[in-house]
Amino acid sequence: MSKKRIVSGMRPTGKMHLGHVHGALLNWKNLQHEYECYYFIADWHALTSEYANPTIIKETTYEIIMDWISVGLDPDVCTFFIQSEIKEHAELHLIFSMITPLPWLERNPTYKEQLRELTQRDIYTYGFLGYPVLQAADILMYKAHGVPVGEDQAPHVELTREIARRFNHLYTDVFPVPDVLLTPTSKVLGIDRRKMSKSYGNAIFLTDTDEEIERKVSQMITDPQRKRRKDPGDPGICNVFSFHEIYSDEQTVNEIDGACRKAEIGCVECKKMMAEALKKGLAPIREKRRELEADISKVKEIMREGCQKARDVASETMKEVRAAVKLP
Ligand code: TRP
Ligand code: SF4
Repeated sequence: MSKKRIVSGMRPTGKMHLGHVHGALLNWKNLQHEYECYYFIADWHALTSEYANPTIIKETTYEIIMDWISVGLDPDVCTFFIQSEIKEHAELHLIFSMITPLPWLERNPTYKEQLRELTQRDIYTYGFLGYPVLQAADILMYKAHGVPVGEDQAPHVELTREIARRFNHLYTDVFPVPDVLLTPTSKVLGIDRRKMSKSYGNAIFLTDTDEEIERKVSQMITDPQRKRRKDPGDPGICNVFSFHEIYSDEQTVNEIDGACRKAEIGCVECKKMMAEALKKGLAPIREKRRELEADISKVKEIMREGCQKARDVASETMKEVRAAVKLP
Protein backbone atom coordinates (compact mmCIF):
# COMPACT_ATOMS: atom_id res chain seq x y z
CA MET A 1 0.00 0.00 0.00
CA SER A 2 1.30 3.45 -0.77
CA LYS A 3 2.11 5.76 2.09
CA LYS A 4 -0.22 8.48 3.19
CA ARG A 5 0.92 11.97 2.38
CA ILE A 6 1.55 14.84 4.77
CA VAL A 7 2.33 18.48 4.11
CA SER A 8 3.75 21.14 6.39
CA GLY A 9 5.57 24.43 6.01
CA MET A 10 7.38 27.18 7.81
CA ARG A 11 7.61 30.87 7.16
CA PRO A 12 11.17 31.98 6.40
CA THR A 13 11.49 34.79 8.90
CA GLY A 14 14.72 33.66 10.55
CA LYS A 15 17.01 30.70 10.98
CA MET A 16 16.06 27.72 13.08
CA HIS A 17 16.40 27.68 16.87
CA LEU A 18 15.87 24.95 19.42
CA GLY A 19 12.21 25.89 19.71
CA HIS A 20 11.76 24.88 16.07
CA VAL A 21 13.85 21.75 16.54
CA HIS A 22 11.95 20.41 19.54
CA GLY A 23 8.61 21.96 18.62
CA ALA A 24 8.41 20.78 15.01
CA LEU A 25 11.46 19.47 13.19
CA LEU A 26 12.13 16.34 15.23
CA ASN A 27 8.47 15.47 14.84
CA TRP A 28 8.75 15.99 11.08
CA LYS A 29 11.79 13.76 11.16
CA ASN A 30 9.94 11.01 13.05
CA LEU A 31 7.21 11.07 10.44
CA GLN A 32 9.47 10.94 7.41
CA HIS A 33 9.53 7.17 7.01
CA GLU A 34 5.91 6.54 7.82
CA TYR A 35 4.51 9.15 5.44
CA GLU A 36 5.29 10.66 2.11
CA CYS A 37 6.37 14.10 3.31
CA TYR A 38 6.17 17.45 1.56
CA TYR A 39 7.91 20.12 3.60
CA PHE A 40 8.13 23.61 2.24
CA ILE A 41 9.24 27.19 2.80
CA ALA A 42 6.12 29.36 2.99
CA ASP A 43 7.66 32.52 1.55
CA TRP A 44 4.39 34.00 0.32
CA HIS A 45 3.03 33.55 3.82
CA ALA A 46 6.05 35.37 5.20
CA LEU A 47 5.26 38.21 2.82
CA THR A 48 1.87 38.73 4.47
CA SER A 49 3.63 40.23 7.49
CA GLU A 50 7.08 41.08 6.09
CA TYR A 51 5.98 42.76 2.87
CA ALA A 52 7.81 45.95 3.80
CA ASN A 53 11.09 44.13 4.45
CA PRO A 54 11.23 41.16 2.09
CA THR A 55 15.04 40.73 2.18
CA ILE A 56 14.77 38.64 5.35
CA ILE A 57 12.72 36.11 3.38
CA LYS A 58 15.32 35.68 0.68
CA GLU A 59 18.18 35.58 3.18
CA THR A 60 16.70 32.90 5.35
CA THR A 61 15.18 30.45 2.88
CA TYR A 62 18.39 28.51 2.25
CA GLU A 63 19.56 28.87 5.85
CA ILE A 64 16.40 27.08 6.91
CA ILE A 65 16.75 24.32 4.35
CA MET A 66 20.29 23.68 5.59
CA ASP A 67 19.01 23.62 9.16
CA TRP A 68 16.32 21.10 8.19
CA ILE A 69 18.78 18.75 6.55
CA SER A 70 21.28 19.14 9.39
CA VAL A 71 18.79 18.00 12.02
CA GLY A 72 18.13 14.87 10.00
CA LEU A 73 15.35 15.54 7.55
CA ASP A 74 16.47 13.40 4.65
CA PRO A 75 16.21 14.95 1.18
CA ASP A 76 16.21 11.46 -0.33
CA VAL A 77 13.02 10.71 1.55
CA CYS A 78 11.21 14.03 1.94
CA THR A 79 10.28 16.48 -0.77
CA PHE A 80 11.42 20.02 0.04
CA PHE A 81 10.18 22.95 -1.96
CA ILE A 82 9.65 26.70 -1.96
CA GLN A 83 6.03 27.83 -2.09
CA SER A 84 6.53 30.75 -4.48
CA GLU A 85 8.27 28.46 -6.98
CA ILE A 86 5.01 26.59 -7.46
CA LYS A 87 2.78 29.25 -9.00
CA GLU A 88 -0.18 26.86 -8.89
CA HIS A 89 -0.54 27.71 -5.18
CA ALA A 90 -1.52 31.24 -6.19
CA GLU A 91 -4.12 29.99 -8.64
CA LEU A 92 -5.66 27.58 -6.15
CA HIS A 93 -5.66 30.31 -3.52
CA LEU A 94 -7.58 32.54 -5.92
CA ILE A 95 -10.18 29.87 -6.61
CA PHE A 96 -10.58 29.06 -2.93
CA SER A 97 -10.99 32.77 -2.18
CA MET A 98 -14.16 32.69 -4.31
CA ILE A 99 -15.80 30.03 -2.19
CA THR A 100 -14.58 31.00 1.29
CA PRO A 101 -17.17 32.99 3.25
CA LEU A 102 -15.64 36.07 4.90
CA PRO A 103 -16.95 35.22 8.37
CA TRP A 104 -14.88 32.01 8.35
CA LEU A 105 -11.78 34.20 8.10
CA GLU A 106 -12.87 37.00 10.38
CA ARG A 107 -13.68 34.70 13.28
CA ASN A 108 -10.34 32.86 13.05
CA PRO A 109 -8.77 33.13 16.54
CA THR A 110 -5.18 33.31 15.23
CA TYR A 111 -6.15 36.18 12.95
CA LYS A 112 -7.76 38.15 15.74
CA GLU A 113 -4.84 37.53 18.07
CA GLN A 114 -2.24 38.56 15.52
CA LEU A 115 -4.09 41.74 14.64
CA ARG A 116 -3.94 42.59 18.33
CA GLU A 117 -0.31 41.59 18.84
CA LEU A 118 1.63 42.51 15.72
CA THR A 119 1.01 46.20 16.28
CA GLN A 120 4.38 47.32 14.86
CA ARG A 121 3.34 46.12 11.41
CA ASP A 122 0.26 47.06 9.49
CA ILE A 123 -1.28 43.70 8.75
CA TYR A 124 -4.81 44.89 8.26
CA THR A 125 -4.56 43.78 4.66
CA TYR A 126 -6.45 41.64 2.20
CA GLY A 127 -3.54 39.21 1.99
CA PHE A 128 -3.24 38.72 5.71
CA LEU A 129 -6.95 38.00 6.13
CA GLY A 130 -6.56 35.41 3.39
CA TYR A 131 -3.56 33.75 5.05
CA PRO A 132 -5.48 30.56 5.90
CA VAL A 133 -6.93 30.38 2.39
CA LEU A 134 -3.41 30.27 1.00
CA GLN A 135 -2.56 27.67 3.61
CA ALA A 136 -5.53 25.58 2.45
CA ALA A 137 -4.15 25.79 -1.08
CA ASP A 138 -0.72 24.60 0.15
CA ILE A 139 -2.21 21.59 1.84
CA LEU A 140 -4.93 20.57 -0.59
CA MET A 141 -2.70 21.01 -3.65
CA TYR A 142 -0.92 17.82 -2.57
CA LYS A 143 -4.12 16.07 -1.48
CA ALA A 144 -2.57 15.65 1.95
CA HIS A 145 -4.07 13.19 4.42
CA GLY A 146 -2.43 14.87 7.38
CA VAL A 147 -0.84 18.13 8.45
CA PRO A 148 1.70 18.04 11.29
CA VAL A 149 1.43 21.37 13.09
CA GLY A 150 1.44 22.85 16.57
CA GLU A 151 -1.69 23.76 18.46
CA ASP A 152 -1.57 27.38 17.25
CA GLN A 153 -2.03 26.20 13.65
CA ALA A 154 -4.92 23.83 14.33
CA PRO A 155 -7.62 26.43 13.55
CA HIS A 156 -6.02 26.98 10.15
CA VAL A 157 -6.13 23.31 9.33
CA GLU A 158 -9.73 23.24 10.52
CA LEU A 159 -10.46 25.92 7.95
CA THR A 160 -8.65 23.89 5.30
CA ARG A 161 -10.99 21.02 6.08
CA GLU A 162 -14.01 23.27 5.68
CA ILE A 163 -12.74 24.64 2.38
CA ALA A 164 -12.09 21.10 1.10
CA ARG A 165 -15.61 20.02 2.03
CA ARG A 166 -17.13 23.09 0.47
CA PHE A 167 -15.23 22.65 -2.77
CA ASN A 168 -16.12 18.96 -3.00
CA HIS A 169 -19.74 19.77 -2.29
CA LEU A 170 -20.02 22.65 -4.79
CA TYR A 171 -18.21 20.89 -7.63
CA THR A 172 -16.92 17.38 -7.43
CA ASP A 173 -14.86 15.30 -5.02
CA VAL A 174 -11.33 16.45 -5.64
CA PHE A 175 -9.82 16.79 -2.18
CA PRO A 176 -9.41 14.40 0.75
CA VAL A 177 -10.24 16.16 4.03
CA PRO A 178 -6.89 16.23 5.88
CA ASP A 179 -6.39 15.47 9.57
CA VAL A 180 -4.45 17.63 11.99
CA LEU A 181 -1.45 15.69 13.30
CA LEU A 182 -0.89 17.66 16.45
CA THR A 183 2.77 18.08 17.38
CA PRO A 184 3.35 17.47 21.09
CA THR A 185 4.23 20.83 22.64
CA SER A 186 7.90 21.30 23.27
CA LYS A 187 9.13 21.48 26.84
CA VAL A 188 12.01 23.74 25.98
CA LEU A 189 11.47 27.41 26.62
CA GLY A 190 13.56 30.46 25.80
CA ILE A 191 16.29 31.56 28.18
CA ASP A 192 13.81 33.92 29.89
CA ARG A 193 11.24 31.09 30.30
CA ARG A 194 8.89 32.53 27.70
CA LYS A 195 8.15 30.64 24.49
CA MET A 196 11.37 30.51 22.45
CA SER A 197 11.15 33.07 19.69
CA LYS A 198 13.56 35.13 17.65
CA SER A 199 11.48 38.24 18.31
CA TYR A 200 11.81 37.82 22.09
CA GLY A 201 15.61 37.62 21.82
CA ASN A 202 15.57 34.49 24.00
CA ALA A 203 16.43 31.83 21.46
CA ILE A 204 19.36 29.44 21.07
CA PHE A 205 20.05 28.97 17.38
CA LEU A 206 21.44 25.90 15.67
CA THR A 207 24.14 28.13 14.25
CA ASP A 208 25.20 29.63 17.62
CA THR A 209 28.88 29.21 18.50
CA ASP A 210 30.06 27.39 21.62
CA GLU A 211 30.63 30.74 23.31
CA GLU A 212 27.12 31.93 22.49
CA ILE A 213 25.66 28.71 23.84
CA GLU A 214 27.66 29.03 27.06
CA ARG A 215 26.63 32.64 27.51
CA LYS A 216 22.95 32.01 26.82
CA VAL A 217 22.79 28.97 29.08
CA SER A 218 24.49 30.92 31.88
CA GLN A 219 21.76 33.57 31.58
CA MET A 220 18.89 31.09 31.72
CA ILE A 221 16.22 31.59 34.32
CA THR A 222 15.98 28.46 36.47
CA ASP A 223 13.42 27.56 39.14
CA PRO A 224 12.29 31.10 40.05
CA GLN A 225 11.57 30.03 43.66
CA ARG A 226 15.19 29.02 44.18
CA LYS A 227 16.67 32.31 45.31
CA ARG A 228 19.77 31.16 47.17
CA ARG A 229 22.23 28.33 46.71
CA LYS A 230 21.03 26.63 49.90
CA ASP A 231 17.36 26.66 48.82
CA PRO A 232 16.17 23.36 47.40
CA GLY A 233 14.99 23.58 43.77
CA ASP A 234 12.25 21.98 41.73
CA PRO A 235 13.61 20.50 38.49
CA GLY A 236 10.03 19.93 37.37
CA ILE A 237 9.60 23.62 36.65
CA CYS A 238 13.17 24.39 35.60
CA ASN A 239 13.93 25.01 31.95
CA VAL A 240 17.61 24.06 32.43
CA PHE A 241 16.39 20.68 33.62
CA SER A 242 14.16 20.27 30.56
CA PHE A 243 17.29 20.64 28.43
CA HIS A 244 19.12 18.11 30.60
CA GLU A 245 16.29 15.66 29.99
CA ILE A 246 16.90 15.94 26.28
CA TYR A 247 20.66 16.29 26.06
CA SER A 248 22.13 14.57 29.16
CA ASP A 249 22.30 10.84 29.84
CA GLU A 250 19.74 9.23 32.08
CA GLN A 251 22.04 8.76 35.05
CA THR A 252 23.07 12.42 35.06
CA VAL A 253 19.45 13.48 34.79
CA ASN A 254 18.54 11.37 37.82
CA GLU A 255 21.49 12.66 39.82
CA ILE A 256 20.66 16.28 39.07
CA ASP A 257 17.03 15.71 39.92
CA GLY A 258 17.97 14.40 43.37
CA ALA A 259 20.76 16.88 44.02
CA CYS A 260 18.66 19.88 43.02
CA ARG A 261 15.83 18.89 45.35
CA LYS A 262 18.32 18.61 48.22
CA ALA A 263 20.25 21.76 47.30
CA GLU A 264 23.36 19.66 46.76
CA ILE A 265 24.04 21.22 43.39
CA GLY A 266 24.05 24.89 42.46
CA CYS A 267 22.44 26.29 39.36
CA VAL A 268 25.75 27.61 38.05
CA GLU A 269 27.29 24.17 38.05
CA CYS A 270 24.11 22.58 36.74
CA LYS A 271 24.05 25.01 33.81
CA LYS A 272 27.69 24.34 32.99
CA MET A 273 26.93 20.64 32.76
CA MET A 274 23.92 21.33 30.59
CA ALA A 275 25.85 23.62 28.25
CA GLU A 276 28.42 20.85 27.77
CA ALA A 277 25.74 18.27 27.02
CA LEU A 278 23.98 20.64 24.66
CA LYS A 279 27.16 21.45 22.75
CA LYS A 280 27.88 17.74 22.46
CA GLY A 281 24.36 17.01 21.27
CA LEU A 282 24.47 19.77 18.67
CA ALA A 283 27.96 18.93 17.42
CA PRO A 284 26.91 16.43 14.72
CA ILE A 285 24.18 18.80 13.54
CA ARG A 286 26.63 21.65 13.26
CA GLU A 287 29.14 19.41 11.52
CA LYS A 288 26.52 18.44 8.95
CA ARG A 289 25.60 22.07 8.51
CA ARG A 290 29.20 23.06 7.82
CA GLU A 291 29.35 20.41 5.12
CA LEU A 292 26.24 21.81 3.50
CA GLU A 293 27.48 25.40 3.72
CA ALA A 294 30.59 24.29 1.88
CA ASP A 295 28.47 22.80 -0.89
CA ILE A 296 25.65 25.24 -1.53
CA SER A 297 25.27 23.99 -5.08
CA LYS A 298 24.16 20.63 -3.68
CA VAL A 299 21.54 22.32 -1.53
CA LYS A 300 20.31 24.24 -4.55
CA GLU A 301 20.12 21.01 -6.52
CA ILE A 302 18.05 19.40 -3.75
CA MET A 303 15.65 22.31 -3.91
CA ARG A 304 15.46 22.24 -7.70
CA GLU A 305 14.50 18.58 -7.62
CA GLY A 306 12.01 19.05 -4.80
CA CYS A 307 10.34 21.98 -6.55
CA GLN A 308 10.07 19.99 -9.76
CA LYS A 309 8.42 17.11 -7.96
CA ALA A 310 6.00 19.44 -6.19
CA ARG A 311 5.24 21.20 -9.46
CA ASP A 312 4.36 17.92 -11.16
CA VAL A 313 1.85 17.07 -8.45
CA ALA A 314 0.47 20.62 -8.42
CA SER A 315 -0.05 20.68 -12.16
CA GLU A 316 -2.06 17.44 -12.02
CA THR A 317 -4.23 18.74 -9.17
CA MET A 318 -4.87 21.99 -11.00
CA LYS A 319 -6.11 20.13 -14.08
CA GLU A 320 -8.75 18.48 -11.91
CA VAL A 321 -9.58 21.76 -10.17
CA ARG A 322 -10.02 23.67 -13.42
CA ALA A 323 -12.20 20.93 -14.82
CA ALA A 324 -14.29 20.96 -11.65
CA VAL A 325 -14.89 24.72 -11.81
CA LYS A 326 -15.35 24.60 -15.58
CA LEU A 327 -12.42 26.80 -16.43
CA PRO A 328 -9.94 26.16 -19.24
N1 TRP B 1 1.08 29.01 8.87
C1 TRP B 1 2.19 28.17 9.14
C2 TRP B 1 3.03 28.79 10.26
O1 TRP B 1 2.94 29.94 10.51
C3 TRP B 1 3.04 27.93 7.93
C4 TRP B 1 2.29 27.25 6.85
C5 TRP B 1 1.94 27.78 5.65
C6 TRP B 1 1.84 25.90 6.85
N2 TRP B 1 1.29 26.87 4.91
C7 TRP B 1 1.21 25.70 5.60
C8 TRP B 1 1.89 24.87 7.78
C9 TRP B 1 0.63 24.47 5.27
C10 TRP B 1 1.31 23.65 7.45
C11 TRP B 1 0.69 23.46 6.20
O2 TRP B 1 3.83 28.13 10.84
FE1 SF4 C 1 17.38 24.03 37.62
FE2 SF4 C 1 19.66 22.74 37.90
FE3 SF4 C 1 19.17 24.97 39.32
FE4 SF4 C 1 17.88 22.72 39.85
S1 SF4 C 1 20.07 23.05 40.05
S2 SF4 C 1 16.99 24.74 39.67
S3 SF4 C 1 17.64 21.82 37.82
S4 SF4 C 1 19.41 24.82 37.12
